[in-house]
Amino acid sequence: MYIVGYVFRRDSINRRMAPETVANVLARKTTYSLKKMKRKGKRIVMLTAYDAPSASILSECGVDIILVGDSVGNALLGYESTIPVTLSDIIHHCAAVARAKPKSLIVGDMPFMSYKVSILQALKNCSRMLQEGGAEAVKIEGGGNVVAIVEALVDAGIPVMGHIGLTPQSIFELGGYRVQGRTADQAEVLVEQAQRLEKAGAFSLVIELVPSETAKMITEAVEIPTIGIGAGPHCDGQVLVLWDMLGLFKDFKPKFVKKYADIRQVITDAVQEYTKDVREGNFPTPEHSFEMTEEESGRLYGRNKPADS
Ligand code: KIV
Repeated sequence: MYIVGYVFRRDSINRRMAPETVANVLARKTTYSLKKMKRKGKRIVMLTAYDAPSASILSECGVDIILVGDSVGNALLGYESTIPVTLSDIIHHCAAVARAKPKSLIVGDMPFMSYKVSILQALKNCSRMLQEGGAEAVKIEGGGNVVAIVEALVDAGIPVMGHIGLTPQSIFELGGYRVQGRTADQAEVLVEQAQRLEKAGAFSLVIELVPSETAKMITEAVEIPTIGIGAGPHCDGQVLVLWDMLGLFKDFKPKFVKKYADIRQVITDAVQEYTKDVREGNFPTPEHSFEMTEEESGRLYGRNKPADS
């Protein structure tokens, strides 16, 4: 709804009817602008975020898509896989991301079994992701088995990002975190899955853990953007889990992650310095303390004079 230079965007409950300038809204990433990026050969940048401060940093850095991934399970919630993550977990984190009002497109990752039981279940749960989580699109894992679900969601006005290759929610069925699409036959199956998802209305596709050749073939076979993770350089964009590329974890370093910072060391150094300061009485100093006025202080000590004064 346009009102003299302002756009009132009917949004999630967290940012309902927020007045925004037209320029701000136009700067926001949409499923449409992402498709345009592919046509123009502009690479798409996607990262995960699960909280408002991270989302705000990613937005300021010009990241195109923020994925509120079910990787929150491994990255922040202490699970060993994404399987235990619930819809409520993702909605909770997605709403925090949405409250940061990022310019990046917010994609909510539908967790394990929250969309595959039936089309009705998918419609209900994906609606919650938009209405309660403030997501602007959902991501669902799967190939041919989710085509009808993608069709129904897109029909209902819910933008869908597909996810093929390694699909971590099927980890037990796949027998581990293995590279997919290694043979020519397997690559062709993935190309077909990508084309079916495109035809069903998906606006983009994550391709996870496949050889570069397979990802290239898929990327060339569809008009929608492909976003790779462990899928080589030929995708239209790339995604990483934020906390992997920032180096939060000590022993986790898959081949496809480039570590851009050692945030674990930064945090460790800061916590050790704080611990030392507290133990040695060097924190807080007057700089970090509050004081009474001299008059009040005099009155206080006048009343309760310390024994040695
Ligand atoms: O949950 C997630 O972070 C993901 C990405 C790895 C694509 O699905």
